[in-house]
Amino acid sequence: MKKLLFIDCCIRGEASRTRKLAEAFLSALPEEYDAEWLDLGTADLHPLDRARYFAREKLLDEGKLSDPLFDHAKDLAGADLVLVATPFWDMGIPAMLKTYFENVSIAGITFSCDEKGNYEGLCKAERMVLLTTRGMDIPDGSEMEQATPYLRAICKFFGIGALEVVSAWGMDTEPPAEAEKRLHFAAENAKELAKSL
Ligand SMILES: Cc1cc2nc3c(=O)[nH]c(=O)nc-3n(C[C@H](O)[C@H](O)[C@H](O)COP(=O)(O)O)c2cc1C
Repeated sequence: MKKLLFIDCCIRGEASRTRKLAEAFLSALPEEYDAEWLDLGTADLHPLDRARYFAREKLLDEGKLSDPLFDHAKDLAGADLVLVATPFWDMGIPAMLKTYFENVSIAGITFSCDEKGNYEGLCKAERMVLLTTRGMDIPDGSEMEQATPYLRAICKFFGIGALEVVSAWGMDTEPPAEAEKRLHFAAENAKELAKSL
């Protein structure tokens, strides 16, 4: 079996349009994948405030990579395929998703760095799939769209070969029938992508 890590940042849960794209993707995924679901809407993850930062540095200085604090990083590093489903918030990703990446950016697990400052990604996955919906009329590639460039940089940093994006936009600005049509089209694209894996 191959492992799919599903990083679910669909904060609105059942009401989420983006979650529908994820459901379409998962429904068409080849059976060889075993999906592990990480729901960021309920996950016990925190940004690095001062106390958390120094506590983490201490563990790293002591080489204690076996600490449960690093379990999420290990799950990411060992996944064969990474699925991120997230709405577009404030021209980028929700803070919970940024918090997730802050928590899994761990030298020795998701990336390495030698004495000369050369970085190398340590994640096994050959690709990350990003499923997203945007409220405004912001197409892929727009300079207003800062979620995809961030995730592309993360992939490069962690050694994940490619980022595939399926998106729908204008969800809150188009008439409901048009928004529904775009969402349906994106769901079909998500299914096709899953089948091709
Ligand atoms: C807190 C918040 C911030 C948002 N910021 C943006 C934004 O900056 N640009 C945009 O196009 N849409 C924005 N939206 C709209 C969402 O991207 C849009 O409604 C999306 O389809 C929601 O996805 P969901 O149904 O999966 O929650 C925002 C929505 C919320 C709740």
